[in-house]
Amino acid sequence: MQVLNLPVEIFDHTWSLKIQGKSIGFVPTMGALHEGHFHLIKRAREENEIVVVSIFVNPLQFNRDEDFNNYPRSVDQDLVHLRKLGVDVAYVPSERAMYPELPQIKLDFGLMEQVMEGEFRPGHFSGVGVVVAKLFNHCNPTRAYFGLKDLQQYLLVKRLVSDLSLPLDIVGVPIVREESGLAMSSRNQRLSQEGKRIARTIYQGLILARQLWEDKSSSDETNQTVNAFYREQKGLSMEYVQIVSPNTLRPLENNKLEPAVICVAGYVEGVRLIDNLYLRQD
Ligand code: PAF
Repeated sequence: MQVLNLPVEIFDHTWSLKIQGKSIGFVPTMGALHEGHFHLIKRAREENEIVVVSIFVNPLQFNRDEDFNNYPRSVDQDLVHLRKLGVDVAYVPSERAMYPELPQIKLDFGLMEQVMEGEFRPGHFSGVGVVVAKLFNHCNPTRAYFGLKDLQQYLLVKRLVSDLSLPLDIVGVPIVREESGLAMSSRNQRLSQEGKRIARTIYQGLILARQLWEDKSSSDETNQTVNAFYREQKGLSMEYVQIVSPNTLRPLENNKLEPAVICVAGYVEGVRLIDNLYLRQD
């Protein structure tokens, strides 16, 4: 596996592969790799001749310095995992290589970013959009792989690619959960055993929502019951619980025969966790 650090190095390398007609699967990450990332990488490995994984903790997408500073970092360990997974190239740029100057551009995804993560993390998706566009330009991917735990991110990146006619496909990969149901996340590393026990109730609330939805409860009823369940969990503080259309992210007022997904964010031991579950598939 090659480890490249400079935009020009990864560009030249992937461009020469691309003009030889090789397909390039790209998995952007912020490191602290876990089983969820491994699924993305395995999928990229199955579907492409070359696999590139980037590791870069992007300061532009953090709206709290504390969150950025506390984000887990374990590059050496990550590289060991990537070698085992048969990755061809790890791209690990420094902050300076990525942003020689602070980007002045701001991306606005309109209504789609005014809800959920966008509402509670101002500027987050602009930061994600900028780094993802730069990484695509550096790595020349045929396909890029995103986890569906960050459903809103996946939808906005798809939108970015279609609005800017970027020449790649975006592939969404289902959420990977621990045995307890807790969605895999790099942030889980910051939880104590007790924190993990509390955090798994997030998924239990989602399962409750699905039962209620299947029993034809309305959006409001489901929301209220799930919120009440979450309020009973000591140590868990929810930021939002929203039932939305998985295509537009608009809130769903009624329980009709249309696709619906419940998206939630909350804090356990000061760690911000998100999750979602389809209440009804397409
Ligand atoms: O999902 C993430 O890990 C990040 O938002 C991403 C896509 C690597 C951009 O920094």
